Parts: sequence; C-alpha cells; structure tokens
Amino acid sequence: MATSLLLLSMLVMTMDGHGTSDFFKDKDKCATEWSDLGLCLPFVGGDTKSPTVDCCSRLKLDVEKAKKCFCAFVEYRENPNLGLTINATLALSLPDACHRPMNVSECPDLLYLDPYSEDAKVFEDATALASPTTP
Ligand SMILES: *[C@@H]1O[C@H](CO)[C@@H](O)[C@H](O)[C@H]1NC(C)=O
Ligand SMILES: *[C@@H]1O[C@H](CO)[C@@H](O)[C@H](O)[C@H]1NC(C)=O
Repeated sequence: MATSLLLLSMLVMTMDGHGTSDFFKDKDKCATEWSDLGLCLPFVGGDTKSPTVDCCSRLKLDVEKAKKCFCAFVEYRENPNLGLTINATLALSLPDACHRPMNVSECPDLLYLDPYSEDAKVFEDATALASPTTP
C-alpha cells in the first residue's frame, strides 16, 4: 500500500508539460486527495475485491473539494499523464464500498462537464449501476 502511495506521488510529481492545462491545475489542487486515492489502486484497478481499511479511512468525501478531486480522478482515468489503471465502474463504486455515500451524479456538475458528453455519461452509468434495484 505504501508502495502504491509512493508510486502515485512520484507520478503526480514528475509529470510535466504535455497534458491539458486543466489536468495540471487539478493535479496541483488534488495532490493530497489523489495521493490518498493511491491507497485504493488495488481496488479501482480490479486487483482486489474490496478496498482496504487504509484506503477507506483516507477517503473523505464530506467537503466539496474532496468530492471534486474524487470525480476528477475518475474523469482523468484515461489521461496518460495520470499513468494509472483505473476502472471507472470500480472507482465510482468506492464511496459505497467504503460506506462513504456520495451522489456521483453530482460529478458532471462539480467538474463543469457538458451533461451530454461522454465524460459525463460515465458518472450517470455508475449511478444507474449503484441504484438499489440492481442486484
Ligand atoms: C470494470 O470492472 C467491472 C466490474 O468488475 C467489469 O464488469 C468491467 O468489465 C471492468 N471494465 C474494464 C474496462 O475493465
Ligand atoms: C444526485 O445528484 C443529481 C444531480 O445533481 C440529482 O439530480 C439527484 O437528485 C441526486 N440524488 C440524490 C439521491 O441526492
């Protein structure tokens, strides 16, 4: 776990130059949150079935900034600058898996995404999956 954290911090710190400016702005703002999310990589990458206690204890979704950083983490999952393997479905199930409920359909709003864009769709699909009627 310490290794994932270190790895993520290194990735976050050594990245330079070539992404979108938003990515690097968000990276700076979310440095702490994303480092903490590094503890959840085995789960969000699909290597383990449930998140670790360490991961969950760092997952704080009670303030807007934390929510936004969590949403951004998922949004950037395919950005090569992030350099991580994240399964969006699993990542968005993290709040529930950690018993830290969050309405992930707020993500497109928090990230100022076009609600009809592909990026926004991921969050809506996850909400549908997480609905109580799904087995
Ligand atoms: C993500 O995880 C879900 C649930 O385990 C799985 O059904 C899906 O195929 C995975 N997606 C990718 C792109 O690996
Ligand atoms: C979740 O957020 C969406 C978008 O802001 C809102 O429409 C919906 O009512 C919220 N759901 C709950 C359960 O709060």
